[in-house]
Amino acid sequence: MLYRHILRPLLYRMDPEKAHHFAFGALRRTAAIPGGKGMLRLALSPKADPALTTRVWDLELPSPVGLAAGFDKDAIGFEALGAAGFGFVEVGTLTAHAQPGNPKPRLFRLPKDRALLNRMGFNNGGSKAAEPRLAGSRQTIVGVNIGKSKITPAEEAADDYALSAARLAPHADYLVVNVSSPNTPGLRDLQAVESLEPILRTVRETCEQAVPSRRVPLLVKIAPDLADEDIDAVAQLASALELEGVIANNTTISRQGLRTDPAAVRELGNGGLSGAPLKARSLQVLERLRAKLGPQTVLVAVGGIEDADDAWVRIRAGATLVQVYSSYIYEGPTLPKDLANGLAARARTGGFARVQDAVGLPQATPGVSDGVARSRDIG
Ligand SMILES: Cc1cc2nc3c(=O)[nH]c(=O)nc-3n(C[C@H](O)[C@H](O)[C@H](O)COP(=O)(O)O)c2cc1C
Repeated sequence: MLYRHILRPLLYRMDPEKAHHFAFGALRRTAAIPGGKGMLRLALSPKADPALTTRVWDLELPSPVGLAAGFDKDAIGFEALGAAGFGFVEVGTLTAHAQPGNPKPRLFRLPKDRALLNRMGFNNGGSKAAEPRLAGSRQTIVGVNIGKSKITPAEEAADDYALSAARLAPHADYLVVNVSSPNTPGLRDLQAVESLEPILRTVRETCEQAVPSRRVPLLVKIAPDLADEDIDAVAQLASALELEGVIANNTTISRQGLRTDPAAVRELGNGGLSGAPLKARSLQVLERLRAKLGPQTVLVAVGGIEDADDAWVRIRAGATLVQVYSSYIYEGPTLPKDLANGLAARARTGGFARVQDAVGLPQATPGVSDGVARSRDIG
């Protein structure tokens, strides 16, 4: 209510990127005052609930609802975001070299579509600068998303990723190789398995050398615009390389099916579209990956998740974890708690002790009693 009727209209008067810095700054400042994190937890975190506890890799997450990459690119506020209700936070994309990103304006709202369009271009202070912020103990589970520096040619991509992996893997609860942003020229071509395989092998070796005491979970984040056979090829590669997970998916370059006036959309220019228009394709990509991959490959669903129903559908389709970005902007700070509580309620109604128990168990047809859940109760 407060967000929708007072804060959001105020933020919407600001340029979207400025509004992001303003709101994120306010959150960090609140977390920094004595007792601030406790206050945030009280107001915005779901209550500790065994139904939400998610065990994945060697981690125990308080909730399967996380914040997607791109919000905290420089790893400056993950503890504040953890206190604000996210079960985990993915920082980045961080690149080996600091870079300014694309000229502004580069972030736009499409409120009629509950969508965002961005061509940020991996603006970030670089993996070297981020390292000390990630080192040391913390309360929040943090995934680290790495990308290729703009100045690095495609042929040297593996070494560029490896440099960031060497710096950040020791501090990452999981590491993501991002090859799917549309805003770094040529980056998405790295999704072709001939390019992707050497990158992932090099990053894995780097992780093993940099962190001999622990197997750092390694994930790849893909685009929703891949053709189905390319999704299958990535799935096959993920299996062959024993990746711990796949994140589906990044923003789309498609502009189909939008309610916003096409001329106005064209005027905004290039960039990746996120939010509600991604919902259907993201689910398809997830389902395709689940069909191709064994249970040892964890799937992280992201793209157009707006409410607990969307999140529950992704869990039932095979995602162990879900992430949001655009809907956090549209729905406001109570979203992580609303999604988590909604998931726990749906699990209980379905007869599952934990949300995690429902992963990959398709829902019965609406109106028909939940046979899957009942058989689990009985069995
Ligand atoms: C402004 C903005 C910046 C983003 N930056 C990154 C990024 O740096 N790295 C990345 O992997 N994804 C990035 N993303 C993509 C999101 O992580 C997510 O995959 C995408 O927005 C789909 O989720 P959503 O529909 O919930 O927004 C960004 C998205 C937005 C809106």
